[in-house]
Amino acid sequence: MSKKTIVALGGDGVGPEVVEAACQILEGAGFALEILKPPAGEMAQEKYGDAFPEETRIMCDQADAILFGATGATSIVILAYLRWILDNFVNIRPVKYFAGAQSCLKDPQGIDFVILRENSEGLYSFAEGDLELLSDKLPDYRTLIGKSFSDFGKGKFAVRIISEKGVRRLAKFACEYTVSRKNNGHPGKLTCVSKSNVLRQTDGLFEQVVKDEVAKYAGLNYEQFYVDDTARRLLKYPGSFDVLVTSNMFGDVLADEAAELVGGLGMAGSACVGGRVAYFEPVHGSAPKYAKRNIINPTAAILSAGLMLEYLDMNAEANTLENAVAAVYREGKYLTYDHGGNTSTSDFTKAVLSQIR
Ligand code: IPM
Ligand code: MN
Repeated sequence: MSKKTIVALGGDGVGPEVVEAACQILEGAGFALEILKPPAGEMAQEKYGDAFPEETRIMCDQADAILFGATGATSIVILAYLRWILDNFVNIRPVKYFAGAQSCLKDPQGIDFVILRENSEGLYSFAEGDLELLSDKLPDYRTLIGKSFSDFGKGKFAVRIISEKGVRRLAKFACEYTVSRKNNGHPGKLTCVSKSNVLRQTDGLFEQVVKDEVAKYAGLNYEQFYVDDTARRLLKYPGSFDVLVTSNMFGDVLADEAAELVGGLGMAGSACVGGRVAYFEPVHGSAPKYAKRNIINPTAAILSAGLMLEYLDMNAEANTLENAVAAVYREGKYLTYDHGGNTSTSDFTKAVLSQIR
């Protein structure tokens, strides 16, 4: 089998440590991958005055997949490239409980669902500005509650973009994803999360397009909840979800909440796909206060690497990796601080690897 080429980018804070942990496992397991580690993030900024050197970017363009650590203030240029320039419009965030992990719930057994977060538009349009701009351009505009922009006085606005094309491609992906999970024994239920009682136009469109797409798939179970209600249901009925599909910011917020159900951000891996080159990253950020102390839990990056293997059609390897992680939690001998243990990042990595070898 020809080797797939992976580019590993550390990024900021704890990023380099967790990516290195994942790479050590992929390499140590002997999977058919060639892993390149070009300079990227804080280290590259210090050394070359550039967090994302041109050569690194070219390697990303030519890779089969990219593994990314985390962004703080420095690596945001990398994230912008991976998400928006490469156009990876779906952010897949699995929420799965591994027995032995420390959840905030009394009974987290069996939690296994996935949040599909729109990754390219919504409130992440980076289109913000002074309210005066709106009052100048749209002097006659009246909101549904009868206000004009100038009534608000000085302030800022942000633009929430929900494009028909953007929702359609996400919805199509979500339907296919839910069907393929159903074929693997999951319930085959898709939950659309929005706030169309307030965001009537943007989320009205979001819901409509999702519903249109769902209608094309036989045997899909469909439901729709408002985001506030979903936040509550995640805590009360976490076992009732299968696949959730939502806009960018709702997905961002719900994914952090949901991670806590299965043991926190240390357990939350993600895959960002749909664009030219897919990338995989832990959901936790750069967590600078934990950086360079060899204590951070690398599970999220390891599980992200597992999602990458799956994406590369290396399903046997993906299963091997997930089973190894599950075994470490089940045994409970090597747990990091966030699960009540005092195992270091490097010892946790070795523990996972020893389950594979
Ligand atoms: C995430 C992060 C990012 C986001 C930040 C760092 C821009 O919180 O991946 O969830 O909000 O998307
Ligand atoms: Mn986030």
